[in-house]
Amino acid sequence: MAIEKESFGKTPYGEAVERFTLINTNGIRVRIMTHGATLLSIETPDRDGNTADIALGFETAAEYGPDTPYFGSTIGRFANRIAHGKFSLDGKDYQLALNGDGIHALHGGDRGFDKRIWTADVFEAENAVRMTYCSPDGEEGYTGNLEVSVMYTLTEDNELKLDYTAITDQATPINLTNHCYFNLAGHDTGNIGKQILTMNADRFVPTDGTGTPFGELRSVEGTPMDFRASHAIGERINADYECIQCLKSPGYDHCYCINQKVEGELTFAARAEDPVSGRVMEVFTTEPGIQFYSGNFLDGTDQGKGGCLYALHGGFCLETQHYPDSPNRPQFPNTILRPGEKLTSQTIYKFSVV
Ligand code: GLA
Repeated sequence: MAIEKESFGKTPYGEAVERFTLINTNGIRVRIMTHGATLLSIETPDRDGNTADIALGFETAAEYGPDTPYFGSTIGRFANRIAHGKFSLDGKDYQLALNGDGIHALHGGDRGFDKRIWTADVFEAENAVRMTYCSPDGEEGYTGNLEVSVMYTLTEDNELKLDYTAITDQATPINLTNHCYFNLAGHDTGNIGKQILTMNADRFVPTDGTGTPFGELRSVEGTPMDFRASHAIGERINADYECIQCLKSPGYDHCYCINQKVEGELTFAARAEDPVSGRVMEVFTTEPGIQFYSGNFLDGTDQGKGGCLYALHGGFCLETQHYPDSPNRPQFPNTILRPGEKLTSQTIYKFSVV
């Protein structure tokens, strides 16, 4: 199956953008653009064979700029928060931009990887597109020339595979993820509260109201954070539980610690189901964590594809990653990449119906 390549307008910074389309013989179609190595759309059939686009996003590349919700974007150099934008590495102190509520470094800074043009290579035989970005030494305050790639592969088993690699010439923190917002009923169908979530996680990373971890990993047992047995996302989203209520916009916005038998082994992380359409998505990853974010900052002001408005909880993210603020938390899995090492990481989104 030929991978389609088209020009897709310009970024808000004026650069030319390309868009690639991957399809499989089961009716799945995935679109990716070189601006931010961003997932633009994921079209999948429901149990009756009716197709819908289940990924939130904008109509044009020019709309993917500052102050957007990171729809489908590749996030780096460091996804999630680095508290107060500060960390020390090999005896040197670093101060990053405080672009997260003016307090923390968030999602790679003022112009992270989601707002950069990536170079695309097509692999027809694998039904894959690889995006590569070279982040120069000093960009957004991070040290080291970092070469990062993400390969998107769509398989005949209805898996969308994301394979990341990175190498650096100086030690640097790194935490890569994709920030896709899913709504299994269709991107423009509103509240995801009735969609059902299961998570393979006994613990989560509790934070204060600004998203800074306290440093402990807490058991989900007996809390509204527990998704080991399936629950509708909306069932406990407004629960009177401190970790939910302390957030600026209450809901789920927490990193879960995946029950991984062997560090770095591909492990089942989460499953989401829409009982109405029958669409199911399973997530597998080699990462130790997954940020479950229930679209708490969507407020009906973002005009998405086809002119729809994305309302509060109009999509959910399952962002596979390392734990927030890891560079300041030696007890968390390591996020420092050093020269001579190669980062590899895999996440699989698998689509089916029930
Ligand atoms: C992440 C964060 C949220 C929010 C969104 C983007 O998921 O955890 O707090 O910043 O990105 O709106």
